[in-house]
Amino acid sequence: MTSTLEIRDLHAGIEGKEILKGVNLTLRQGEIHALMGPNGSGKSTLAYVIMGHPHYEVYKGDILLDGESILDMSPDERARAGLFLAFQYPVAIPGVTVAHFLRQAVSAVRGYTAQKTEEGPVGSNLMPMREFRKELNEAMQMLGIDPSFARRYLNDGFSGGEKKRLEILQLAMLRPKFAILDETDSGLDIDAVRAVAEGVKRLVGPELGVLIITHYQRILNYIQPHYVHVFYDGRIVMSGGPELALKLEEKGYDWVREQFGEKEKVLVG
Ligand SMILES: Nc1ncnc2c1ncn2[C@@H]1O[C@H](COP(=O)(O)OP(=O)(O)OP(=O)(O)O)[C@@H](O)[C@H]1O
Ligand SMILES: [Mg+2]
Repeated sequence: MTSTLEIRDLHAGIEGKEILKGVNLTLRQGEIHALMGPNGSGKSTLAYVIMGHPHYEVYKGDILLDGESILDMSPDERARAGLFLAFQYPVAIPGVTVAHFLRQAVSAVRGYTAQKTEEGPVGSNLMPMREFRKELNEAMQMLGIDPSFARRYLNDGFSGGEKKRLEILQLAMLRPKFAILDETDSGLDIDAVRAVAEGVKRLVGPELGVLIITHYQRILNYIQPHYVHVFYDGRIVMSGGPELALKLEEKGYDWVREQFGEKEKVLVG
């Protein structure tokens, strides 16, 4: 069955300040959607609210995975249900290696649990080391990540491009149903954009729905979106095909501001 992630009239914000003002968006597995919009319009907020970041409050509307509301689910429950977010600003965790972190994350998401018995726990909460190593090596190779990264502390001293590549490595290992990539292309040199884009491209397919948040049409040359949405002042104000991204690049957001004026959603193309 094809999974669906539906965002329905979502109003959300922080400390009583409404940032999302009625977002409607439906993603299906196998679809690639691009979300573009000016700084501060609420794109990252949308990503955080979908993942259940505890700082944000939902005032109205719903987020449904296969028809069931996920609003009461914790971020890790959402991850286990198949949602993934690649952060715009990944955090560093000195003391935790990339391999250790990934093994924990993959094991949790795939539901490895020790059986409780009277003699104590049987089995492990972790994916077997050999299996994990094999998968990790394959994924690193596919993404052109040097194997030595597995032993480094998570994002500690990583360059901007290395951090973004690591986000894609997580995506490759976690195999979610829906991935939100929040500016995974920002701050990357030309070769790194291509490497990241090609990594994502290898992961897309009928099992993965992607929401790519980006400021640049560039990455969309590598990963062709089925739909492009323009985000403005807390909601989607235009939707169209890939040509909409080109038009935005050419005309800028003033064009959106002018023609969209007030509040009605415009369909282009
Ligand atoms: N913790 C917070 N406290 C106060 N305001 C916040 C908080 N988080 C976000 N905001 C505000 O919400 C608005 C939307 O921010 P958000 O990060 O979602 O924008 P964005 O579209 O991702 O921008 P960018 O393109 O620069 O990444 C901004 O005005 C921001 O200052
Ligand atoms: Mg952002």
